Amino acid sequence: MRAVTDSASGTDGAAGEGGTGVEDFIELDGVEKVFDVRRKVGFLRRERHQVRAVDSISFRVPRGEMVGYIGPNGAGKSTTIKMLTGILTPSAGRLRVAGVDPSRERTRLAQRIGVVFGQRTTLWWDLPLIDSYRLMHRMYRVPDARFRENLDRCVELLDLGELLDVPVRQLSLGQRMRGDIAAALLHDPEVLYLDEPTIGLDVISKAKVRGFLRDLNAERGTTVLLTTHDLTDIEQLCRRVMVIDHGRLLYDGALTGLHEVGESERTLVVDLEREVPPIELPGTRARTVRTQGPRQWLAFPATESAAPLVARIAAEYPLVDLSVREPDIEAVIAKMYADRSAV
Ligand SMILES: Nc1ncnc2c1ncn2[C@@H]1O[C@H](COP(=O)(O)OP(=O)(O)O)[C@@H](O)[C@H]1O
Ligand SMILES: [Mg+2]
Repeated sequence: MRAVTDSASGTDGAAGEGGTGVEDFIELDGVEKVFDVRRKVGFLRRERHQVRAVDSISFRVPRGEMVGYIGPNGAGKSTTIKMLTGILTPSAGRLRVAGVDPSRERTRLAQRIGVVFGQRTTLWWDLPLIDSYRLMHRMYRVPDARFRENLDRCVELLDLGELLDVPVRQLSLGQRMRGDIAAALLHDPEVLYLDEPTIGLDVISKAKVRGFLRDLNAERGTTVLLTTHDLTDIEQLCRRVMVIDHGRLLYDGALTGLHEVGESERTLVVDLEREVPPIELPGTRARTVRTQGPRQWLAFPATESAAPLVARIAAEYPLVDLSVREPDIEAVIAKMYADRSAV
């Protein structure tokens, strides 16, 4: 649980890793990606400028972990994933996946990684789903028995049975996404990168995808890096989360720790026997933020215990019922971004 400071070193031991152990499946040290962009200005003139999409990022992911990678649009999430798959070469820094430099040994590494880009499909648009899988079977040279086993498993768990003979362009977004996830797993990758896998999906499809990922990680030990802007994905799947904005890592730690960094507040929802003036608890940091008849809402720092407040209210007010509301993680992150840009 820590906020990432500006220092490029990133690994001051706080994360608990002892250097470059074999356990670290993904390793980034001061990784950067700068794009040269030419912009048209005026009639014939073009101006060159640079976009620092990823700016000195360091992190490690041990084998078998499922990590969330979140941030607003344009933060650098997809660029990071493209470097991890070897599609893009870092401009600076050191990057290793399974001890291998992805951009140098992309083909060799392809056998060991699976990737899903939510906004793009790797499936052949005009072919039935099953034909795409058969092509991948050959492309990745997956042994027949293993291919069949993986396919059966994905078809069952992702509910693809009815869809195998349907051309991909006729699938709904949720169906296509499940098809894409299966495609990424037919060769038994050790790591799965998911770039916005639930984007645009309906609630049921989201639940299906999440359940599947949870099982995959738990049963097969597949390392998963999950990029999303849907925080429910993270809350349901990942204990560890990394937050990126403007190419920089703002936070790397437990999901619960985000609340501390964001200095967020929890809320006591208090039901009283009758309507009374706003509750006051001098000497505490709780304050009444809303009242509605006999119900009142008190905000207090999320890092403080609710117990003494509850005891005080019970002693001094006609208390009927009470509950604690956890801070809304979206609000926490929004605040984190706001604090960051205010610096
Ligand atoms: N091929 C590219 N050429 C120029 N700029 C790019 C390219 N790819 C991404 N960028 C820029 O890099 C930044 C990060 O983009 P991206 O990694 O796609 O963010 P995210 O996936 O978090 O939305 C953005 O400002 C984006 O415009
Ligand atoms: Mg993206």
